[in-house]
Amino acid sequence: MISDEIIEQIKKKIDIVDVISSYIPLTKKGRNYFGLCPFHDDHSPSMSVSKEKGIYTCFVCGATGNAITFVMNYENVSYLEALKILGEKLGINLNLNTYKKKDNYDHLYEIYEFSNKFYQNNLNTIAGHEARDYLKNRGINEDIIKEFKVGLALGFDKSLTKLLIQKGYKEQDLIDIGLTNKNDYGYQDLFLNRIMFPLWNTEGKIIGYSGRIYNQTDTSKYINTKETVIFKKGLNLYNYHRARNAVRMSGSIIIMEGFMDVIRAHSVGIYNVVATMGTALTIEQANLIKKLSHNVILCFDGDKAGNKATFACGNELVNIGINPKVVRLESNLDPDEYIIKFGVKKFQEKLDNCISFLDFKMNYYKEGKNLNNNEDLSNYVNEIILEVKNIEDEILRELTLKKISGEIGISFETLMSKLFNELNNDTKALIGQTIGNVDENIEDTNPYTYDFKPKKVVKTFRPKVSVTNKYMKAEREILYFMLTDKDLVYKLKSDLPYFPTQICRFLAHEIMYFVEKYDTIASSDFLNYLNSKTELVNLVGEILDSNDKKKYSIEEIPDCINVLKNYNLKNEIDRLNALLKTESDLEKKIELANRIMSLKMGVEENERNQNV
Ligand code: CTP
Ligand code: MN
Repeated sequence: MISDEIIEQIKKKIDIVDVISSYIPLTKKGRNYFGLCPFHDDHSPSMSVSKEKGIYTCFVCGATGNAITFVMNYENVSYLEALKILGEKLGINLNLNTYKKKDNYDHLYEIYEFSNKFYQNNLNTIAGHEARDYLKNRGINEDIIKEFKVGLALGFDKSLTKLLIQKGYKEQDLIDIGLTNKNDYGYQDLFLNRIMFPLWNTEGKIIGYSGRIYNQTDTSKYINTKETVIFKKGLNLYNYHRARNAVRMSGSIIIMEGFMDVIRAHSVGIYNVVATMGTALTIEQANLIKKLSHNVILCFDGDKAGNKATFACGNELVNIGINPKVVRLESNLDPDEYIIKFGVKKFQEKLDNCISFLDFKMNYYKEGKNLNNNEDLSNYVNEIILEVKNIEDEILRELTLKKISGEIGISFETLMSKLFNELNNDTKALIGQTIGNVDENIEDTNPYTYDFKPKKVVKTFRPKVSVTNKYMKAEREILYFMLTDKDLVYKLKSDLPYFPTQICRFLAHEIMYFVEKYDTIASSDFLNYLNSKTELVNLVGEILDSNDKKKYSIEEIPDCINVLKNYNLKNEIDRLNALLKTESDLEKKIELANRIMSLKMGVEENERNQNV
């Protein structure tokens, strides 16, 4: 437990504006701050945050609370976990081991660990021959079997249950967690004659199985563990714990339907993948994804069901503020089949050419409709208008309508006026709501009402750090650690950010080269090596001797990298914006606008990932 004292300390120190703006951008208007409400599908800033009162209120969906409840709802965590997060942000030590959540299910996890060893062992016995052949035929090799801990349940058997009981586990526990069946003749193992794929929770503990048939056809393809005290299907995603790092590294997460798809992707070197396991995406799962990355690619089966699932899952993500990308596979193939049939290169191309969710929906609404038929056409237009209405970026909105107008032969002006009608209706509804529900938090939006004392003004408007300084600081901090920690140099090898300052860029490459060649970064040797490159020698000296290094911390490196990434992203956005202005081809304009949007989201995500 966290002591009352510490809780008080946290509450005292919390600044709700700092907390919320670490999640969503806030703009100051009068005494209050405003931002897009993350708790409903918000398109204009409806959430007001009062610094003095320490509360937030959304005047559309009614969400309200303090900094702690905000973190609880946003991160989807308990009160204690929220305090821990806030404590960390504020630099208050909570004494972590006393906090560690204990659910008393350790013995159940133990049982699963043991059962998995047992199943893995079965697969290697003579009786496992046929199952091994099956896996081999599907191109699942030894390494993958080991990594995904694939095992085998033998037929007509109670050996697992018997063994577990011998080891002292309670029969009732085995039944409760879905490993054992009880019938008139006693107990029996629940999984029989199936290849056993363990399922993990987000922390990487085995909590259930999916058992696949491999030598019969007359029964269900998969049998899954039922919901138990530790197996909550809707709270987990297949491969989440393993994909975590890869997602951070690659900056994106791919969602598939089946765990066989994930295993296949993994086996060809695509690691940032999770699976929903064929069910609708729950809000909890959506938030799990959001925690890892806002850059989501939906890559479901190529069939009709997969199409529907893409639509549903995409909408679920949009609801929590994520604008996913979509990959559709041809010929009804699922990712597993696609990779086998066309190879990883072609599959990677599909991923690289993913389309926006908006484009996906435009096609989706067309399906099953005959646009030569007036009724179908009118339905289509209505559906499209409702979608376009939700696009925040005005340019993209217009471009989308232009494109559709060309496709369906209805004038752009007609579509625009339909859109205006829709928008008008919304505004009326919104005004009605606001008037009917006078909110003390939003009444005071006169920008001139803040305190006149200069001190206050400085405090409310955060001082702007000079842009150059921010990048220079990040560059130097990274270089400092590269010059003192060769492990970091190796780690950065595949992911060295582009340094904005030329001389820093040169130095980074020299360090890279030197460490790779000599496996050391001893400063005397390195300076020796730089020898006549005086400018670089001076820079090294400057960085190693600088007073700033006292403020550096190796934990800040990911932040520094994000800062540099953002610098580059922002440059790219500027470049594309310039192109957008001069481009006359509609398709290309849309593509550019889309690209700019997703880069902007990348910047936002990097900023979100930075510590406050
Ligand atoms: N699923 C299930 N029970 C079924 C069918 C599917 O639980 N009878 C779940 C599984 O978790 C599976 C996911 O839904 O991973 C996707 O189903 P499907 O596409 O049919 O599975 P595949 O990944 O194609 O499996 P395989 O290639 O082994 O046929
Ligand atoms: Mn399949």
